[in-house]
Amino acid sequence: MEMEKLVSLCRRRGFLFQSSEIYGGLNGFWDYGPLGVELKRNLKDAWWRDMVAAHDDLTTHAGAPGAYEMTGLDCTIIMHPQVWKVSGHYDLFADVLVECKESKKRYRYDQVRCRWIDGTGMHLPGSDQQYATEQVKYLIATVAENEAEDLEKRAMKLLKVRSKDKDSLKWIDGVTTLDQIDTQDFDKVFAPEATKLGTFGEPRDFNLMFESHAGALQSEDNKVFLRPETAQGIFVNFKNVTDSSRVKVPFGIAQVGKSFRNEITPRNFTFRSREFEQMEIEFFCHPSQSQDWYKYWRDRRMAWWQSLGLSGKNLILRDHHPDELSHYSTGTADIEYAFPFLPEGEYGELEGIAHRGDFDLRSHMEGKLDPNSCPLTVQLGEDGKPVHRGSGRDLTYRDDITNERFTPHVIEPSAGADRGALALLCEAYHEDTAPDDKGQDQTRVVMRFHPRIAPVKAAVFPLVKKDGMPEIAQDLYRALKKKFPAFYDEKGAVGRRYRRQDEAGTPYCLTVDGQSVQDQTVTLRDRDTLEQVRMKLDDVVEEIERRVTG
Ligand code: GAP
Repeated sequence: MEMEKLVSLCRRRGFLFQSSEIYGGLNGFWDYGPLGVELKRNLKDAWWRDMVAAHDDLTTHAGAPGAYEMTGLDCTIIMHPQVWKVSGHYDLFADVLVECKESKKRYRYDQVRCRWIDGTGMHLPGSDQQYATEQVKYLIATVAENEAEDLEKRAMKLLKVRSKDKDSLKWIDGVTTLDQIDTQDFDKVFAPEATKLGTFGEPRDFNLMFESHAGALQSEDNKVFLRPETAQGIFVNFKNVTDSSRVKVPFGIAQVGKSFRNEITPRNFTFRSREFEQMEIEFFCHPSQSQDWYKYWRDRRMAWWQSLGLSGKNLILRDHHPDELSHYSTGTADIEYAFPFLPEGEYGELEGIAHRGDFDLRSHMEGKLDPNSCPLTVQLGEDGKPVHRGSGRDLTYRDDITNERFTPHVIEPSAGADRGALALLCEAYHEDTAPDDKGQDQTRVVMRFHPRIAPVKAAVFPLVKKDGMPEIAQDLYRALKKKFPAFYDEKGAVGRRYRRQDEAGTPYCLTVDGQSVQDQTVTLRDRDTLEQVRMKLDDVVEEIERRVTG
């Protein structure tokens, strides 16, 4: 599927619009139209229902080490600035930005995760081989074109180095061991090359957090930040939740909400936006069980995306290579989707599932931990005091039964609602043929959404605008609307009305015809099979409800 076709359909049918479009739009910001808002709401509702509201906390679910509880939170977007100092975002959530002087293209290095983000804004794939390939692509993209060929040759040598041939390391001055060419040393190895070629501007730090000021004065003292992730609101409320509710470890706290990142290269439709929504869970467990819980969440979250229709070759679960892990993480996996704007064989992150150890709770107790030291130590300044002080509050947990006191370990499944909605749109887009009003086969565009997340569940058409048909159709429409989004349409040829609903992804169309007036039946048309069955008017609401929630 070509991405342009989807983008055009999204605008034409009201899934997505560029923010402030009448003023020329604002890069990295998107508005959801009448159909898009329902789609995204259905995705978030399905997540909340399956993860929190309908979670059965009395049963041990398949793959889980035991039963667990789930609860929710809704925290503010602007929090105490110390939160971001302690979390590391204030110091580390900065990209090194480089700009190619000729093309003016910008590239960035994600310091939190120690990896290059290439020109398409994608994170880099995990295996050594692919990783190096991506780094090389980045390099080639950022040097003058006439130098690219030479660089590519050298790059191929590097790939060889990483796979087998350690001897050929010698081609890079000063690099003699394989360890020197790991992900973090990449810029040490290549930055001098790039500088020599003189095509870059000076790399400069660029913090991704949007800033504002709380109160009338605009000074350093009242500077605040829009949250770049929802997770920290959960960590700082850990004690409030355990003190105010009866939840016991293991348990999870879920939150859905907006996050903001001043991305240098927002692109690929909504994939990398500056304002987006996250659906995050922080799951607190005993350290001795944390690996089992990590595996459980990793598989559970993959199965959940599959249940919404993302499956087959388009969706993968990718375990991070040890090179890619943060120092405090003993395991991270990404659920990735083959977005059509990516080159063949490449995938983009939809959700990350990370084993974060006790890093976050400890940081909020003791002060900013040094993410580069292992075991983690509090970062001290020259005066011997923590660089960024923690809350000083006790965020440990005491087990009522064993009396053991410990700092829980955290498993974090962190998904993007906008990337989720985009993947669902990409997966749904199909072109096939269907007969028009004259029985001639025509190409049709059909959005094959899973009925559970389809924006509109059913559309009702009177065949013609007379002979009592509109009255029956309108009564049916009102009855359906009480249960879920439905649509009424009496304009134009019925074939064209079907086509419009196919493009909107409406799974069922109900047509009231002459026979309906006689025997109180209607036809139900299935969007995907095009099959039409006649059924009793009285059974329609229950039948559609069964199909869209089943
Ligand atoms: N608390 C962990 C965290 O925020 P992340 O990988 O930076 O981890 C989690 O973000 C998810 O949020 C991603 O998998 C992605 O779906 C979504 N996300 C992150 N940055 C985004 C952006 N600029 N635009 C849209 N979605 C984004």
